Amino acid sequence: MRILLLGAEGLLGTTVWATAEADPRVTELVAAGRADVDVTSRDAVRRAVLDVRPDAVINTAALMPADLCDETPEAAYAINALGPRWVSQACAGIDAVPVYVSTDFVFDGAGSQPYPPDGYPRPVQTYGITKLAGEHETRLGSERYLVTRSACLFGPPPRSPRARRCFVDRVAEKASAGGDLKVVDNVITSPTYTRDLATTILDLLYHKAPSGTYHAVNQGVASWYELCRTALDRLGLPAQVTPIQEQNYTTAPRPLHTPLTGTLPDGVRRIRRPWQAALDDYLVQYPALRTDERDVA
Ligand SMILES: NC(=O)c1ccc[n+]([C@@H]2O[C@H](COP(=O)([O-])OP(=O)(O)OC[C@H]3O[C@@H](n4cnc5c(N)ncnc54)[C@H](OP(=O)(O)O)[C@@H]3O)[C@@H](O)[C@H]2O)c1
Repeated sequence: MRILLLGAEGLLGTTVWATAEADPRVTELVAAGRADVDVTSRDAVRRAVLDVRPDAVINTAALMPADLCDETPEAAYAINALGPRWVSQACAGIDAVPVYVSTDFVFDGAGSQPYPPDGYPRPVQTYGITKLAGEHETRLGSERYLVTRSACLFGPPPRSPRARRCFVDRVAEKASAGGDLKVVDNVITSPTYTRDLATTILDLLYHKAPSGTYHAVNQGVASWYELCRTALDRLGLPAQVTPIQEQNYTTAPRPLHTPLTGTLPDGVRRIRRPWQAALDDYLVQYPALRTDERDVA
């Protein structure tokens, strides 16, 4: 498979890059950060797609987090919605598959059951609205496409100095510096390891999954508090973690209950493991996070 990866230096892009490089099914990988290909530029996207002539374009470029999208809605729309339009249209021209990574934030989180891929989307803030628009653009631009929704990603640090490290790294860093934490316990989601998501995307492409929307998350659900507590316990980091309510913490409204569910084709396996097993794998693979490697007072 020949792959063009966009947004390659973000949290997910960095891991898709490393995972694809190590995957023998990927015969050629061109990884483009924002400086290489700005997804808001129709010309830049088209040029890159025509130059590389990939079998698939994995678009992990995004504007996030949600508060920033609320503050800069035009930029959010350009990156999260128009970008996928240019990618999808360029892919259609050469019969490549555009892969758009979307989010549980397309749902309002008002229910109590996990959302299936055909669940009714009703985003409650700019980030979710622009991501849902990006999904539609992807579907409209090309007959062949994959939309993979995921949630609450944890994984190795991004290459880009501007992209944020994942939540697990940030709480571990704060706890190891002796800080106490306040973490929301009323937002329930599907924590997912970036490496498992990256592998899933490559599996879907390799097995020529039918065009459609897939929920690509590790198994099980957790509140952010539970994820934080589990990570710190696994790392042996003693820290006081106070559970707080979502509305005390952020400005953009968060959907409260957005676990994702759904079936994946047979060739997709690793992401079916529980998030706790994926977290263990992450914390073992990246020993810099472990207590014994840290200068903990
Ligand atoms: N993180 C999560 O928990 C989560 C959960 C569900 C879904 N997702 C989805 O997963 C995807 C990847 O998220 P992430 O966490 O990896 O985000 P991220 O770390 O913020 O990475 C996004 C990357 O996109 C790049 N970018 C921004 N504007 C661009 C533009 N105009 N052209 C090209 N690249 C641009 C950024 O470049 P700079 O670094 O140079 O700014 C950054 O490297 C997104 O689609 C997101 O919606 C994420």
